[in-house]
Amino acid sequence: MERPDNRSYKLRGARATPAQEAAYAALWEKYGINPTGPINLSEFFPTSKRVILEIGTGMGEATAEIVRADPDTGYLAIEVHKPGVGALMNMANKSGSTNLRIIEEDAHLVLQHWILDNSFDAIHLFFPDPWPKTKHKKRRIVQEPFLQLIAPKIKAGGYIHIATDWVEYAEWISEVVKNSPLFDGGVIDRPEFRPISKFEGQGLRKGHTVTDFRFFKN
Ligand SMILES: C[S@@+](CC[C@H](N)C(=O)[O-])C[C@H]1O[C@@H](n2cnc3c(N)ncnc32)[C@H](O)[C@@H]1O
Repeated sequence: MERPDNRSYKLRGARATPAQEAAYAALWEKYGINPTGPINLSEFFPTSKRVILEIGTGMGEATAEIVRADPDTGYLAIEVHKPGVGALMNMANKSGSTNLRIIEEDAHLVLQHWILDNSFDAIHLFFPDPWPKTKHKKRRIVQEPFLQLIAPKIKAGGYIHIATDWVEYAEWISEVVKNSPLFDGGVIDRPEFRPISKFEGQGLRKGHTVTDFRFFKN
C-alpha cells in the first residue's frame, strides 16, 4: 500500500523483549483489528450506544481511562506507534474493558480504505504532533484534506474534538476550520472526561496553554 511522504507522525524505534511481544500478541487477539476490507463496526461494538474514533492514542493512558469510564460507547483507536498500542491494550485489559478496538496503522490509510461513511458519532484528536518547524508544518494532521477525509465518516450531528497544547497550532486549527465549509464550532472548556496524559502533563509543566475545540459537522 502506498504510504504518504508527509507523515503526520515520527518514526520511532520499537524494540520489544520476547515477553512484551508475547503479551502483545495475546492482547492483539482481543483488541486488534487487521482490516482486509471495509470494517463493519457493529460487528465489533454490537451493543454500543455510540462509536467514537480516537486518532493517535500515544501511550494510551488517557484513552484507557476514557474507555473504562464509558462502557456504553465503543472506541476505535488508531495509532502507529506499536509500544503505545501495547501499553493501551495492557491498561484496557487490566480494567476489563471490552468496548475498545485498535488498528495499528496510519489513520489516513485507515480512513481512506477501511472506514465506511457515517461510522462515528465523534472523533477525538488529542494532542496531535505539533510539528513546530516551518518546514514541517505540512505534516500537521489538521489540514483541509484531512477534514474532507473525516467529514463523511462522521454521522449527522457528530463532531471532532481536538485538544492541543501548542498555541500556534491552536491558531492554525482555528484558521483551517474557519476556512472550511465542512465543520463549524470553536473553543470549549476543558472537558472533565479527558484525563491528563503524559504528553499533556509535559506540556503543562513547561507552561503550555491547552486549548480544546469542538467542531460539528455541517
Ligand atoms: C503527541 S502524541 C499524543 C498522544 C496522545 N493523544 C496523548 O494525548 O498523550 C501524537 C500521537 O499521534 C500518533 N499519530 C500521529 N499521526 C498519526 C496517524 N496519521 N495515524 C495514527 N497515529 C498517528 C503518533 O504516533 C503519536 O503517538
